[in-house]
Amino acid sequence: MKKLYINPLNKMGHINPELQGHFSEHLGRCIYEGLYVGDSKDIPNTNGMRNDVIAALKEMGIPVLRWPGGCFADEYHWLDGVGPKENRKKMINTHWGGVVEDNSFGTHEFMELCKQLGCKTYINGNVGSGTVREMSEWVEYMTFEGVSPMADLRKKNGSESSWKVDYFGVGNENWGCGGNMNPEFYGNLYRQYQTYIRNYDPKKPIFKIACGANASDYNWTDKVLDTCYRNMPDNAHGFMDGLSLHYYTVPHDWNHKGSAVDFDDKTWYDTLNKTLFMDELIRRHTNIMDKYDKDNKVALIVDEWGTWYDVEEGTNPGFLYQQNTIRDALVAGINLNIFNKHCDRVKMANIAQLVNVLQAVILTEGEKMVKTPTYHVFNMYKHHQDNELLESFIENEEIGIEDDKKVCALNESVSVDKDGKLHITLCNLSIDKDQEIEAVLAENGIAEAKAEIVGGEIHEHNTFDDPEKVTKKAFDGLKIEGGKLKFTLPAASVMHIEAVLG
Ligand code: AHR
Repeated sequence: MKKLYINPLNKMGHINPELQGHFSEHLGRCIYEGLYVGDSKDIPNTNGMRNDVIAALKEMGIPVLRWPGGCFADEYHWLDGVGPKENRKKMINTHWGGVVEDNSFGTHEFMELCKQLGCKTYINGNVGSGTVREMSEWVEYMTFEGVSPMADLRKKNGSESSWKVDYFGVGNENWGCGGNMNPEFYGNLYRQYQTYIRNYDPKKPIFKIACGANASDYNWTDKVLDTCYRNMPDNAHGFMDGLSLHYYTVPHDWNHKGSAVDFDDKTWYDTLNKTLFMDELIRRHTNIMDKYDKDNKVALIVDEWGTWYDVEEGTNPGFLYQQNTIRDALVAGINLNIFNKHCDRVKMANIAQLVNVLQAVILTEGEKMVKTPTYHVFNMYKHHQDNELLESFIENEEIGIEDDKKVCALNESVSVDKDGKLHITLCNLSIDKDQEIEAVLAENGIAEAKAEIVGGEIHEHNTFDDPEKVTKKAFDGLKIEGGKLKFTLPAASVMHIEAVLG
């Protein structure tokens, strides 16, 4: 029996809904086909957005969406994607499959998508191949209400009102696809570009995000911050609101990533071991940030995370289309628990990517759609959004196959919502060992509780022929004895418990 200790008296921080954010790039079938079908007669849509996908995402709870990339962002020229569609320039998507991008999905379409989803907007600007003027004018186009060349152009293109840009990324992966820059060079460019991201409406400030590190490149974080903080005038407060971090779970290595569906037990544990590395990454980047940003004003934004496997056989290698199994459910559950535990510094995280790309929550094929195991995990974790994190600790044991790749069997986070209900999410990382758990509270006991679960045989996944193989199910194995909650968490599962205090 493992004890889960919860201290409702110790609130550790606010869980921003954006910790469960998403990312959609002009990559493969994410935007086109996955989200946007233009004036298709075969796939029911509203202003071009797929009705089935929008409904599923709203049910799951999508707080924020990042667009248009990714690597695509640093070769995207926003003016090509506004105005009459027949006049929009066609370009080659050099990063992703060399396909023709017809720019039929641009700024107006993205804002329409977010309006239908009811989510916040995160726009990623172009530093790699763009200009300060281009970025500055994009912000003016989107957010300025008055009379100006860009606001007038927006009105001419059909939108009288401006939009709210909640988050703005100043470049993407500028250490790589976004220009192969050195950190000092990027740091100086960041200082310059961010100056011209104006807050036209002071009541709706734009949250500015600098390009952060690739995984454990701690030198990037250190040098970018050193460059940005050096001689920065006091009145430049708010010059940086967030610094990003990208980390993907790749089971083997970048040349041979491994199959999404066909993997052995060792690879299961390797994958989860690599997922748990997210915790160390956040701690170490945060330590560096603490050196410069002593008051914890700059958030860490994990705006790309998730599994990255070899593409499904027979699909375009540049489209990054992969299946999604119970293993992905665990990867999602573990990462979301880690983000909760670091909610004092991590204010947004965006899984890559929303539909049909990498660890997608939704897959589509023509007019068909399936919700992946990852979808169902997000659908359970949504109950943490906007809650307060509670102090918690779970007794654990090491499991796995190789000594250096062992993982802790259990992973958890606990929050309290506005009505005082507790939300406990737990992952059992073992392939075959169920775990008996007893939840003990520092004060009060548990009066009532209900639970839901996603789990199964580790390779299970949903297909277009069998779309409900893995779903979220009600779990009826909870027992309350003297205010203590007892249950058995099945192997290879993710659970959400909602509990009422006595
Ligand atoms: O998500 C796919 C790609 O991964 C993104 O375009 C890029 O930012 C990262 O390397």
